Parts: sequence; structure tokens; C-alpha cells
Amino acid sequence: MVRIVQISDTHLGRDEARFAGNWPPLAAWIAAEAPDLVIHSGDLSGDGAGVDDDFAYCAELTEALPAPLLAVPGNHDVGDPFSTRQPPTAERLSRWNARFGTDRWSRDVEDWRLIGFDSMILSSGLPEEEAQFAWLEAEMHGADGRRIAWFCHQPLFIRGWEEGDTGYWTVRTGPRARLKALADAYGLALVGSGHVHLSHEMRLGGTRFVWCPSSAFTVGPGMQPPLGGEKWLGAVRYDFAGREVRTERVRLPQLRQHWIDDVAAAETGAPSQGSQPARDVHAPTQVGKPDG
Ligand SMILES: [Fe+2]
Ligand SMILES: [Fe+2]
Repeated sequence: MVRIVQISDTHLGRDEARFAGNWPPLAAWIAAEAPDLVIHSGDLSGDGAGVDDDFAYCAELTEALPAPLLAVPGNHDVGDPFSTRQPPTAERLSRWNARFGTDRWSRDVEDWRLIGFDSMILSSGLPEEEAQFAWLEAEMHGADGRRIAWFCHQPLFIRGWEEGDTGYWTVRTGPRARLKALADAYGLALVGSGHVHLSHEMRLGGTRFVWCPSSAFTVGPGMQPPLGGEKWLGAVRYDFAGREVRTERVRLPQLRQHWIDDVAAAETGAPSQGSQPARDVHAPTQVGKPDG
């Protein structure tokens, strides 16, 4: 049996004191789990896309973990292709890769192939996007009968493969269709993601989709439309044995549950919108102001 814990959306930085207090209890929980591997599904840093020292700080913390770390970057780490202020660039990707290995990786455990990829370069038009698709197909083609699990920052969708664009919250429809073609061709048993700061699991066809909660903060209804899932802080435990996997989303009450709405309001002096519902609560395309 191989135990893996997934953590996500830690949003850590040397100048980001707000969420730093949740790292020691999270690290203590990880140590108690004694995992063989830790997977971080992105937004490791508060602003690594802008401040390289955030990566240095995150590396200091994660190197002290009692297990190897495999991470995929989030929008706070390498940028967002739909952000004019902070899109992914070759420079941002190379800074991430210099600190944390690569933004894509593959590991075989038990009868599984775990594949981490960088969802933040999808729709970017960077040459790395096509290189990653080619690599992903080769990794799936070469899985040699192993079951396949993907890990990436953004959920591929909220409710199903065929839904329209959900804006900020998920992979866009164009790259999603290409990912679905790979899933259909080679099989896909599990997808673990982060980004939405929600805890959720669902099954569609033969695939299990797990949303790993953040260990830093949750997002109130004024800034995030209803996407499903539960708003609490924690992590996910995966026990892989043979061709099976047992997943458990673990709520960690020892983490202080910040609400980003309150944090943003405190910074601007504006009243918090955290308790107010989003204007259009039924349309995932009508996204609130994002900070996932
Ligand atoms: Fe994110
Ligand atoms: Fe996040």
C-alpha cells in the first residue's frame, strides 16, 4: 500500500503572514500520516508569480516535510493565461521549475500511473502548452495497463465534461476537450485538483474527481458562486493498493479558517461581502471576483 496526501492552496509567502499560521499544524498532520509522497495541487505560494522570494520561502518549508513533494503550479505560482496583469511566461515557468522540479511529472505507484500537469499553461499559447500535450499523451500511451490518475491545479469542469466555459474557475472548453479525448483513449480513473478552495468528490463514468480543500482560506458567496462542495480547510488522503484507491477528504479543525472576503475587506477598509450571496447564484459562468 502506498499512502499519498494531497494538500493545496497554501498561499504561503514570507510577507504573507495571514496564512502562515496554518503551515505548522498542517505539517504536523502530514508527519503523523507518514505518507510515502505529498502532492501539492498548486497555489503553493501567495505570489510566487510576482515575487521569487515567495518560492524560496515555500521551498524552505516544503523541504522540511518528511516525504518527497511533487507539486503542480497554480495561478498564484505561475500566472493565469486570462490575466493581463500576470499571465504565465517562460520566465515564470523557469523560476517555478528551478525551485520545484518541473511543472509536469509522472510517477508509478502500485498499479497506477500518477501524472501531474500544469493547467495554468492551457489556453496560454506558449510552446510549453503543446509540448505538455505531447508529453501527456506519451505518458498515458506508455502507462502499460496501469490505472491513470491526474493531478492539476484547476478542476477540469464543475459538473461535467460537456459544460460551457466557467471562466476563472476551471480549465477552458478547448483544452478540456483535448484532455477528454486523451481520457477516452487511454482511460482515466482519478483526477485530483485544487483552486476552488472547496472539498468535494464525485464520480462520472469510471472517473473519480476529488477537489482538495485549501489549508489557507475559504471563499465566501460574495466572491464565489455555488460550485458544489463544502467550504472547510483540510487535505486528502489516498491509499493506493494494487489497482484500487481509497480516498478520504480530511477536515483539519486545527487549521484556522480564514475567509478571503474578510481578508480583502480588512485590506481595503470596505465592509466584507462575505455573507452576501453572489448576484447570479445559478450560473457558474457568472463568476464572482476571484481570488482562488
Ligand atoms: Fe488558484
Ligand atoms: Fe488558491
